[in-house]
Amino acid sequence: MNEPIVKLQYINITKMQEFNGSHQHFEQMERKVKEETKAAADSTKKDKSLDDTEMVIEASEELEVVKSFDELGIREELIRGIFSYGFSKPSAVQQRAILPITKKRDVIVQSQSGTGKTCVFTVGALQAIDLQLREPQVLILSPTRELAEQTQKVCLALGDYMQVKVHCCIGGRNVNEDVTKLEHGTQIVSGTPGRVFDMIQRRTLKTTSIKMLVLDEADEMLNQGFKDQVYDIYRYLPYGTQCVVVSATLPQEILDMTNKFMNDPVKILVKRDELTLDGIKQFFVAVEKDDYKFETLCDLYDTLTITQAVIFCNKKSRVEWLAKQMRDANFTVSYMHGSMPQKERDAIMTEFRAGQSRVLITTDVWGRGLDVQQVSLVICYDLPQNRELYIHRIGRSGRFGRKGVAINFVTNEDVRILRDIEQYYSTQIDEMPMNVAELI
Ligand SMILES: Nc1ncnc2c1ncn2[C@@H]1O[C@H](COP(=O)(O)OP(=O)(O)OP(=O)(O)O)[C@@H](O)[C@H]1O
Ligand SMILES: [Mg+2]
Repeated sequence: MNEPIVKLQYINITKMQEFNGSHQHFEQMERKVKEETKAAADSTKKDKSLDDTEMVIEASEELEVVKSFDELGIREELIRGIFSYGFSKPSAVQQRAILPITKKRDVIVQSQSGTGKTCVFTVGALQAIDLQLREPQVLILSPTRELAEQTQKVCLALGDYMQVKVHCCIGGRNVNEDVTKLEHGTQIVSGTPGRVFDMIQRRTLKTTSIKMLVLDEADEMLNQGFKDQVYDIYRYLPYGTQCVVVSATLPQEILDMTNKFMNDPVKILVKRDELTLDGIKQFFVAVEKDDYKFETLCDLYDTLTITQAVIFCNKKSRVEWLAKQMRDANFTVSYMHGSMPQKERDAIMTEFRAGQSRVLITTDVWGRGLDVQQVSLVICYDLPQNRELYIHRIGRSGRFGRKGVAINFVTNEDVRILRDIEQYYSTQIDEMPMNVAELI
């Protein structure tokens, strides 16, 4: 059902500065989250940007704009959870997308990276569950284990006063623990498709009481790699399960696909020329040949460590190679990719979230959704293999209106790809200035 876009809304997100005060480290989560949020609020107040930026959202129908969390009509304990997490005011997308979810509508939510989509669907999920019922009622699917875990932690934090049981169901973890948790009261499941489907097939994850399915990073979830698994899971869900589909990028072919499983969805969309955030400055360094990238990176090392930086390579082997080269040259770096043992991945995430490591070399396993507010620099050591990934990668910096810088290393052959990205998103990618460190 492709209903016409009937309403254009212009939302000023300069206002984001007002609620720029929260910050949380997930590594010491749950109980500690409140203290940390307070501490970080003070430390991030100075990172302000998006001064005169307007965020343009297109919606499929007239949307009610709810300017405060109290006016959402959600449960009291949930409002308390939101405030104690450090959120005082809903962001533009939260003001529009939470309400239709709580009204049980199917919703498609697109907004720029770092604008608070997680809170949209976690609040929706927490409002939907019947706390007396000790069975899975909401299923949130994410493309990576780290993202599924981050989402679980946001659910736990926002649901802190609800005694809600949220389980993270991901590969690489102990199956017995899944069984115990899923059979003993889990109400929200945040997981990756493989393990979730496994648990459904074993009848450990009961789907009879599920009333909401959330696909975070939905364009990735409906892409070749995951689509079949997601449909396999979907077939087990009760008829009429509410669907919420979320991403910063939702290409038309993905939107077309949602017709198959969504019922008259409310669509909140952003035009692609509005998708890059003005707070994230984008640059390129012309390195000519691949061989020259390494030296360029070494020259930038001091800049990388001003706050925290994520460096993207296109292959796991490249990540390992680059990390070794950097270490051999006496630079301190961490690295992570999807073929490392989960324990190691967890340890690296914990360290990076805590700020104990400042430079992380990684693949696109880190491209989507991961939120570390102190990341202010992203380097594409290799240019991403598609246009969507570019948006997600650079969006690891500049979270929630903070400043960010993205630097792309381009060889002679890459120039074409960079220009394509620039054109596609109607954005500007300039040559990196000498004083780039001052922009961080
Ligand atoms: N209302 C709010 N007030 C203050 N901070 C907020 C608010 N909503 C979200 N945030 C913070 O903004 C950051 C980005 O949020 P989130 O990860 O949900 O963004 P996202 O839209 O999902 O981005 P991505 O597209 O990269 O997944 C998080 O650190 C979150 O805690
Ligand atoms: Mg997200």
